[in-house]
Amino acid sequence: MQDSLVSPDNLQIIHKGLQIKLQVEEIKKGLNCHNKTISPKFLYDEKGSVLFNQICKTEAYYQTRTEKRILESSSKKISEILGRAVNIIEPGAGNMQKIRTILDVYQPLGYLGIDVSQKEITNAGYNLAIDYPRINVIGVVGDFYQIENEDLEQWLPNSVPRAAFFPGSTIGNFEPDKAVSFLKRLGKSIGQNQFAIIGIDLKKRTEILNLAYNDPEGYTKDFNLNVLQRLNRDYNSDFDLTKFKHRAFYNEEAGRVEMHLVSIANQMVSLGGDIFKFKKGETIHTENSYKYSRKSFSSLVQAADFAIEAFFTDTETYFAVAVIKFSPQKT
Ligand code: SAH
Ligand code: AVI
Repeated sequence: MQDSLVSPDNLQIIHKGLQIKLQVEEIKKGLNCHNKTISPKFLYDEKGSVLFNQICKTEAYYQTRTEKRILESSSKKISEILGRAVNIIEPGAGNMQKIRTILDVYQPLGYLGIDVSQKEITNAGYNLAIDYPRINVIGVVGDFYQIENEDLEQWLPNSVPRAAFFPGSTIGNFEPDKAVSFLKRLGKSIGQNQFAIIGIDLKKRTEILNLAYNDPEGYTKDFNLNVLQRLNRDYNSDFDLTKFKHRAFYNEEAGRVEMHLVSIANQMVSLGGDIFKFKKGETIHTENSYKYSRKSFSSLVQAADFAIEAFFTDTETYFAVAVIKFSPQKT
């Protein structure tokens, strides 16, 4: 989208303050842990989002094309389950491509996408609003952990039922207990008996998973290392990118792919007025990507008061799209 282009009438962009000071504290807290971490949300600056979209096009990263195919073949059934006019909410909306598989067969009243990547929200929101002029498109630049029910009430009329769309296996980036609390919050924001459509990467052979996070083109490596460049630019740190290397592997015991940045030397880095020491071989853990079976996913959603309504997979059972219904016990 060109900056000079006029915003279409059916598009609204909202900035839900990402506070630099709080983010510096969050990054410092992670780097002060015994096992150093950086939250995966910091992977997605403008360049990180471009690299993520490149990863999605690689042969090795089977997830995107597989999920799109599942959505294309099940969108009619999904729309029948949704049944009537709703507002669809997508946390971590990214390039808003997958929602199109639903919009092509089913026109909701509105679509609200939330993402930390400002560029994705403005560009993808613009393109979606132009291509689907009858749908109200709201793009929210913000952290989906920090969107409260009151925010949604301001942006979406309460009188219209809500559905959630959470594809891409982004749920796998949460620790399972966080996934449960996130789903519970999502359930409360859509309401009793409403539906969420969730993309889940399924457990499979280790070699396939390891290749997906070590693509021969090197986009995942660049995506991972880019977080350090991003911290240097936005938070004034002095990471030397030549002194870290990408490492990603499937941890079978934990049932997740782990992504790390390995320090290849003893070194010191400054960030936000603090100095962080790295020993040679020490890592910064940048992402977990949990893989589920139908059974473990079913237990996860049950713990969040959802029940599986439909479960669609590809022929190789690499990936699944589940429609789940928020059915909390009334107390
Ligand atoms: N839903 C899209 C994109 C998935 S990639 C699809 O399936 O293709 C995950 C997206 O979540 C990225 O665009 C990233 O910027 C966003 N994201 C990650 N952590 C986030 C957070 N805490 N709050 C909001 N968006 C986040
Ligand atoms: C967004 N998320 C589900 C992706 C994943 O597979 O965990 C991010 C990603 N990390 C490395 N490659 C892709």
